[in-house]
Amino acid sequence: MALENSNRSTTPDLQQVSDPARRTVLRLSAGAAAAALYGPWLAGCAHPGAAPRLGFAPVPPSRADTVVVPAGYVAEVIAPWGEPVGVPGAMPPWRPDASHSAAEQALQFGMHHDALQYLPLDGSRRGLLVMNHEYVDDGLLHPDGRANWSAEKVRKAQAAHGLSVSEVVLNAGAWQLVRPSPYARRFTADTPFVLGGPAAGHRLMQTAADPAGRSVRGTLNNCANGLTPWGTVLSGEENWAGYFDGGEVINEDQRRWGLRARGWSRWAEHDTRFDTRQHPNEFHRFGWVVEVDPADPTSTPVKRTALGRAAHEGAWVAVTKDGRAVVYSGEDAAFEYIYKFVSRDRIAAAGGGLSAAQANRTLLDHGTLYVARFDADGSGTWLPLVHGQGPLTPANGFADAGEVAIKTRQAADRLGATPMDRPEWLAIDPHSGSVYCTLTNNSARGSPGRPAVDAANPRANNSMGHVIRWREAGDFDATHFRWDHLVLAGDPANTRVEARGNVKGDAFGSPDGLVFDPRGLLWLQTDASSSTMHSGEYERLGNNQMLACDVATGEIRRFLTGPVGCEVTGAAFTPDARTVFVNIQHPGETPGDLSDPAAPTRHSRWPDGAAATRPRSATVVIRRRDGGYIGS
Ligand code: FEO
Ligand code: CA
Ligand code: CA
Ligand code: CA
Repeated sequence: MALENSNRSTTPDLQQVSDPARRTVLRLSAGAAAAALYGPWLAGCAHPGAAPRLGFAPVPPSRADTVVVPAGYVAEVIAPWGEPVGVPGAMPPWRPDASHSAAEQALQFGMHHDALQYLPLDGSRRGLLVMNHEYVDDGLLHPDGRANWSAEKVRKAQAAHGLSVSEVVLNAGAWQLVRPSPYARRFTADTPFVLGGPAAGHRLMQTAADPAGRSVRGTLNNCANGLTPWGTVLSGEENWAGYFDGGEVINEDQRRWGLRARGWSRWAEHDTRFDTRQHPNEFHRFGWVVEVDPADPTSTPVKRTALGRAAHEGAWVAVTKDGRAVVYSGEDAAFEYIYKFVSRDRIAAAGGGLSAAQANRTLLDHGTLYVARFDADGSGTWLPLVHGQGPLTPANGFADAGEVAIKTRQAADRLGATPMDRPEWLAIDPHSGSVYCTLTNNSARGSPGRPAVDAANPRANNSMGHVIRWREAGDFDATHFRWDHLVLAGDPANTRVEARGNVKGDAFGSPDGLVFDPRGLLWLQTDASSSTMHSGEYERLGNNQMLACDVATGEIRRFLTGPVGCEVTGAAFTPDARTVFVNIQHPGETPGDLSDPAAPTRHSRWPDGAAATRPRSATVVIRRRDGGYIGS
């Protein structure tokens, strides 16, 4: 199937973002709905075709406790956990014993950096970094780990979650944080959010603290993210269910969402919000895509319920030819689904005193949500999750559109969507319009009592994962598509035939992060663990890594290897394609650490070195010594 041979243009219109500090208006990457998403070449910044697509010498698998990049590249650490984000007048410094308080943590970079976005303030010289802080490691977060568990420790853990906004500038060839910055901001598990869309105000969203069901404290387990054409960032609440304690009696709905008697966070012991016996509806107020406006530090972030409730990895936006937003998302859990939302209205331009973000404040509250079915003949169908249509009726437990949104998983079950091998990131090819999705792994595929292999998820005991892609049958709002696989990940040296895969180039497993750069290279990042792979498989592939793929040929080349025990996640390119920001998450983590009640036993001292007492998640900024395009 020829997936890469058609150009798909979008209609540019000017988007602007107001600069609250300077009361001027700045361009967010010159243009277009499309330009923010589909590449700065539309703004004349980079020059695709002027350089070879994959031009670097690949790096070998590594077990070293450091970041390795190809010859000719430089990788530098900025923004580790615990450094102040730069809120004016409030910059508590990092202390190596992690003795900073909860209040101080709420002004510092959170733990476990995940996806990040670069939003230009001055092209490729100065911009905002917006990143997710997915979860915490209590053994590292507190000087005495999980011992002496307390309300203050819960508050500190909540403060280390969420998102951060910081400002960065390129000075004399090196990127630095700008501190203080009027944009610097943290969103935590305690920040006020409002609800938008069909579940806002619903009876299942009402709590004692919020009888109207319209405002929520905090966001949790933010994993991947996407930039919108109107200058906001969408961030997915992924494994939120694990923060709640359900106690002895767990109902069918809660069980479908993975609620357990005791969650992993131990927050419920000091914050009853996370005890579903006392506050059953609080559980419904997580699992949403949240939208933040980084350019306006005074803006209130919103949970967009029209995009469905799920263990959302993230959310990524395409634009139809007539200017409506299409938001793709998946949920990273075994046998869960891939979704897309099509907005009812067109994207509005800035004007009349409103920034583009303000002009589109309710755009994602109205539209149609679909879930994907992948058929064996290479076709696929988007099934509408519309209240009153098909089985989504009051008789089946869906009283109204709000309840369909709150029970998105159950609605998708009813429609016969295809259960996938853990959908992680999606990426939209700016040249062809093809949509790519990483399916990281699913060791339960084909095991007794669980779904068998199917055409889209073709390997039983899928420890290596794969990348699927599709082209819509028409515009992005089409209800049908054609799909195939970019690659089945694996290692040709593997003794297990089903884990060898068909990689053309460097072996890898458990693809997770997935990003097209401004020149059109597809970047893959891995989140492999010895707990999901078979004995020896993880060791042979080395530490987690980042690879580049030329989608025209399928060639894949290893670009970066991370330190011991880390995940490599998030890749944000400047519009000129000469800088990439990459996040290194949880260096030193090994299976079992997080449940270890004793003092942390960790296996990395990255990035601070041998004298460090604890490893830290951090952002790495990568440039070429000659200033050239990344990857060429
Ligand atoms: Fe947070 Fe699915 O990775
Ligand atoms: Ca991920
Ligand atoms: Ca993952
Ligand atoms: Ca991870």
